[in-house]
Amino acid sequence: MYTAATPGVYGVFNVIDKSAHRFKRKLVGQAISELSMRKFEPVMREQIETFLQLLSSASGSNGSPINLTVLVKRLTFDIVGLLAFGNNLKTQTDPTYRSLISAQAAGNHRSNIFLQYPFLYKTKIFSFLELFASDQVMAYYNAIEKMIAMRVAEAKHVRHDLYSLIVDEMNPNGEYLKDSEIWAEAAFFLPAGADTISGLLCASLFYLSRNPNAYAKLASEIRSSFDSGNDIKTGPKLSGCKFLRATIDETLRISPPASGTLWRELPTSEESKNTPLVIDGHVIPSGVQVGVNTYAIHHDEDYFPDPFSFQPERWLEDTGISASRKQIMHNAFVPFSIGTRGCAGKAMAYAQSSLVLASILWYFDFEVAPGELGKLGGGNSRLGEGRERENEYQLYDVASAVHDGPVLVFHPRTKVMGDPVSQERR
Ligand code: HEM
Repeated sequence: MYTAATPGVYGVFNVIDKSAHRFKRKLVGQAISELSMRKFEPVMREQIETFLQLLSSASGSNGSPINLTVLVKRLTFDIVGLLAFGNNLKTQTDPTYRSLISAQAAGNHRSNIFLQYPFLYKTKIFSFLELFASDQVMAYYNAIEKMIAMRVAEAKHVRHDLYSLIVDEMNPNGEYLKDSEIWAEAAFFLPAGADTISGLLCASLFYLSRNPNAYAKLASEIRSSFDSGNDIKTGPKLSGCKFLRATIDETLRISPPASGTLWRELPTSEESKNTPLVIDGHVIPSGVQVGVNTYAIHHDEDYFPDPFSFQPERWLEDTGISASRKQIMHNAFVPFSIGTRGCAGKAMAYAQSSLVLASILWYFDFEVAPGELGKLGGGNSRLGEGRERENEYQLYDVASAVHDGPVLVFHPRTKVMGDPVSQERR
């Protein structure tokens, strides 16, 4: 994830001052609130429909294997681009902006260095690294700049998007757009909204394809809850799909898309010097960073028995787990972090992942691709210690989660609206 390119210009994610954070969070939060998602849903569903058509046509008549990471990344990128600046990047259907996706991954590596070693930002090494910022990173910066410039050229409130909600409070002008607060928000918003949901969706499909019981339960729930694919929208029917929500939560537990350690430190103010932070009897001096790794909490068997096994049922009611154990589990479930700096995009994450998974299960049956291809995304002993489990989706913590696969074979159950291939097949 990119943070502000310009020292001294902060976005909601990296601003330290509490009242400045409250202000930015309120502004940015409006774009990803539940209310905003309801307004944005038709745009999101249009992109999902395109995705389903592509899945159908890429499958062809004989079920060609499909690497989900490729198609899902494009889907999530296009959706978040539309929500941010109303720009349809069309990476799903047009190659022009596809390089942005790999460019952003390159940028994540750079950001990750600074997230893990923030002191480097203040050293000469920062300027040195900037000199050698790869062409891909520069291309990404330039593309964001272009997206914002295109939006700035339109009327401020021409549509419901992040820009329209923040522009009256954040000035996009300045000598350079990259120095602006709008740029700082955009640079975080795009990867925060695209990478995370793509990790969640690909991991869900990976686990469903390897756990026939969970697959059967989810397929039956979805196929009995809706009258048609077009009927799949947010509302009581979708939120009534309890196994769907349990599948999403179990995926967020077993493969959290933000899987790393979210470092925190006490500010070096006079006030905090007088009220030391005490954790488990240890006094943590100001300036010292502390954090608990999300993947580690989610795999602690004191909280989640049999932690490496994919069990959506653990999230359902009436599964024989005592109320006190359930409470322990819920307290330890932190894929979005908690507190004032917890994820602002939770509503979007659940809405988008529910719509995509329900639609896939409605329109298709799917299974793991045969042979070596089908193993992509799973662990193996060559990947090193801790990555041996074939049935664990492999995420790499590079600011957000890097992933590849699963490779699956899809069999259309019914016509995807507007798809010429599945229409022919009928
Ligand atoms: C499965 C999906 C997602 C997961 C697992 C996730 C996870 C997280 C986590 C763990 C944080 C806290 C980071 C930290 O404290 O260092 C965070 C912050 C944030 N996320 Fe998400 N996120 C997801 C989706 C989204 C989406 C879709 C958006 C918006 C498009 C979004 C916007 C944000 C914002 C703005 C923050 C900063 C909040 C603040 O500091 O006040 N996230 N997310």
